[in-house]
Amino acid sequence: MNWKRPIFTAILAASIAAQALYAQIEKHPIPRIVHQDGRYALMVDDAPFLMLGAQSNNSSDWPSTLPKVWSAIEYLHANTLETPIYWEQFEPKPGQFDYSAVDNILGQARAHHVHLVLLWFGTWKNGSQHYMPEDMKRDPQRYSHVVDKNGELIDSPSPFAQASLDRDTRAFTGFMQHLRIADPDHTVLMVQVENETGTWGSQRDYSPEANKVFTSPVPQEVLKAMNKPASSGANWSEVFGTEAEVNFHAWAVARYVGRVAAAGKAVYPLPLYVNAALRDPFKGAPGTYESGGPTDNVIPIWKVEAPAIDVLAPDIYLLDTPSYTKVLDLYHRPDNPLFVPETAGTPHAARFLFTSIGLGAIGYSPFGLDYTRTNHPEMMTAKDPNAFLDPTAANYKLLGPMMRDIARLNFAGKLQAVAEIEGEPTQTLHFGAWDAVISYGTGRGGVAKGTPEPIGRALVAQLSADKFLVTGMDCRVDFRPAGPAKQPVEIGNGQIPSARVDDKWLHRQFLRVEEGVYENGSFRPQRILNGDQTDWGLTFTSEPQILEASVATY
Ligand code: DGJ
Repeated sequence: MNWKRPIFTAILAASIAAQALYAQIEKHPIPRIVHQDGRYALMVDDAPFLMLGAQSNNSSDWPSTLPKVWSAIEYLHANTLETPIYWEQFEPKPGQFDYSAVDNILGQARAHHVHLVLLWFGTWKNGSQHYMPEDMKRDPQRYSHVVDKNGELIDSPSPFAQASLDRDTRAFTGFMQHLRIADPDHTVLMVQVENETGTWGSQRDYSPEANKVFTSPVPQEVLKAMNKPASSGANWSEVFGTEAEVNFHAWAVARYVGRVAAAGKAVYPLPLYVNAALRDPFKGAPGTYESGGPTDNVIPIWKVEAPAIDVLAPDIYLLDTPSYTKVLDLYHRPDNPLFVPETAGTPHAARFLFTSIGLGAIGYSPFGLDYTRTNHPEMMTAKDPNAFLDPTAANYKLLGPMMRDIARLNFAGKLQAVAEIEGEPTQTLHFGAWDAVISYGTGRGGVAKGTPEPIGRALVAQLSADKFLVTGMDCRVDFRPAGPAKQPVEIGNGQIPSARVDDKWLHRQFLRVEEGVYENGSFRPQRILNGDQTDWGLTFTSEPQILEASVATY
């Protein structure tokens, strides 16, 4: 027998397999978040990617319900589905992992050419421990709950429960390990660790163990993160006064989640995030919100205690304009990429996708957008079963085909996007020698009055000094030379936007306005707009429309 032959064949096979793996890695490098010049991008296949997502309802990630999810995702033109992995399903018996749900969702997502964000419903789900495996729920001594001020066990897991932390860490690591092997082409872009961590109904854990830590010195890294002087042994109450309980609970929860996340990341370094149930951004006093999660007041504690978490992400259900925009501002920080993993898909809220993109968001994902049920029954009529999807679908139909360009231009600092704000019928965006003036409620030629319920939105990117990519809905966009504007500032009634520059009036003229579509990621012009279609500026209705406009002065 020629013994060399099988060895040679084995070496050849191993080398072919290694080459195939290498080619796969080359083709689909692992998603990552990058940071440059104060801006963030989610890199997918090594280029900036804008996640236009939708989150399924909580109990939708089952073979029997997924058809009702995919049909909605298709209708929406979403490029990413956010959907849970349930700890109780994943670990049916202590230490035994069932990968079937992970494999099933991966296979289905691939077949639908849609990316995934998987939500690890582990120790915390909306502040409770409802997704813990059954054996853990049966043993509250070992997998202990938060104890409230009156000594009662409440419906929330204790961040001091070492046994729960050990189990969650093992299970989450098992899940990430499997994902690494089962998802070589990186269908999964990000993983959410836990869900809306923290506790409702108690500002912290008052168990004897927690009390002992509460009366011990605040760790130095927390003092530093919260801009407190380094102290020699002051305890939580002494350092933080009325904020002591919530800061302490945030520290304890962040430390726990940070350990789970770090263990998972060590086996598979995907971007990880934690979502926050918010406090009122203007008057969120302790006791009025879920304590412990990454609310805006404790972001520095979370950053220092859970460095394996890349993003602290707000679930935005506060839908009035001042609250919504304030929350976006609070989470858009030099040390935190902006990502909205849950929000409402109502007509009024849909425009905030543009505000988020304007702040450099890497993704956006309204909640509960599948046909199993709706959180907005008022938007669902027998006549129109898609009404609850339509506002998001309109956004994604418009932006989906151009999302790579949006993400690229945004990361390069060349793009601005805004949504209408009550009482502000015009907004001005500055682009070097040009201002883009956005007007709402103008009709074709009138002056801006604002729309009755604000729904307008606009996106402008500078392609070169005098050339812009422009899109939007329910608004008008025009360009004016930068400088003191001719009065009235509102452009309308055919008035040409002009500004006083170097002692003379400069007036805008359109050299060319092209309307087109995005095909395979590139703009393809279809016609030149002129006459009534440009004489009053560039008017956008609720129909998708994408333009490239070249401007000059005279
Ligand atoms: C926020 C949670 O994170 C979601 O899982 C879901 O429960 C929604 N709230 C409300 O339905």
